[in-house]
Amino acid sequence: MSGNGRMESIIVTRDLRKEYVMGTETVHALAGVDIEILRNEYVSIMGPSGSGKSTLMNMIGCLDSPTSGEYVLNGQAVQDLSDDNLARIRNREIGFVFQTFNLLPRATALHNVELPLIYAGVSSRDRQRKAAQALEIVQLADRMDHKPNELSGGQRQRVAIARALVNDPSILLADEPTGNLDSSTSEEIMDVFDTLHENGQTIIMVTHEYDIAARSQRVITLVDGKVEAQMSVDYYLARGLKQPTAAPVAADPPTSPETTPAPAPAGEPAPAPEPETASAPEAAPEPTAPREVAPSPTPEIAPSVPPPTAAPVDPAPPEATPPAPGTPRPISNPWAPPTTPPMDGGR
Ligand SMILES: Nc1ncnc2c1ncn2[C@@H]1O[C@H](COP(=O)(O)OP(=O)(O)O)[C@@H](O)[C@H]1O
Ligand SMILES: [Mg+2]
Repeated sequence: MSGNGRMESIIVTRDLRKEYVMGTETVHALAGVDIEILRNEYVSIMGPSGSGKSTLMNMIGCLDSPTSGEYVLNGQAVQDLSDDNLARIRNREIGFVFQTFNLLPRATALHNVELPLIYAGVSSRDRQRKAAQALEIVQLADRMDHKPNELSGGQRQRVAIARALVNDPSILLADEPTGNLDSSTSEEIMDVFDTLHENGQTIIMVTHEYDIAARSQRVITLVDGKVEAQMSVDYYLARGLKQPTAAPVAADPPTSPETTPAPAPAGEPAPAPEPETASAPEAAPEPTAPREVAPSPTPEIAPSVPPPTAAPVDPAPPEATPPAPGTPRPISNPWAPPTTPPMDGGR
């Protein structure tokens, strides 16, 4: 555990649950999650497809509210907040990075990064200055006027990171940030995260890949909506080394509790509408981005994780199937303003 000497919790959840009612069936997407994350920690969340990783990220990011349980963010009990206050917290405390970048396709990099500041009511001059600074942090100062289709996949993701950082959030949440990137571009993005973490940023990242998780400090594994294990990344990798390199992507049930990322549990209900893909403004399709399906070969670090199911990493299209009637929808635009504007016009 690190935390620059300070052991201050930034996130605490207690018995966090999220249920989706799908016809006659209830999906327990989160089935009682207790986690604690310290300020300046860098945590990976791993687990098979459908294990609740994105649902947990959406709860942590206040994009959606739990069915029950407690969530304390920065000392504040989130479950007690009104929707407007939640929207403000989301805008000021949380930075999101998604697998599909979710940039506005017709807007320049600078304008994309300005977006959360527009919603926060920041003046145009300050917005441009802050957005330019954020783009400098991700080393894209020379690409500010480029639109997403004039940028590489890695550059697009760096724009998305700049957008996530522009409000100086307490927490950076990244849901499979390298899922659409090839391995060298993934490294480039992980280097950005390393630098942010060194500069004090708290980061929570969902990933399927050992060598990506290896860049964090701690790994939380989810299975069936519950925390299966929490361990330091060193311990996690040591455990991972016990796995056979070419583990079969079996339809068999998970073999032993020793092997961590098991294939998706059998008896999983209908395919997951992916919250992260449903939750962004004008998700830009990324037809040219190469997809790294096979994890990169770094056996000296850890064997590859078998793809959790036959499907590649969460390939749901941006327009996900709508949830069942009566199911509260996740927030569709994390940067959207509260329904009533803040009195002070933002910070
Ligand atoms: N909006 C939704 N409506 C109904 N079921 C959902 C919804 N979002 C997620 N689920 C279900 O919740 C479970 C966890 O999903 P998710 O958090 O997306 O998993 P992961 O990100 O680990 O792949 C899955 O069984 C999925 O089908
Ligand atoms: Mg997911």
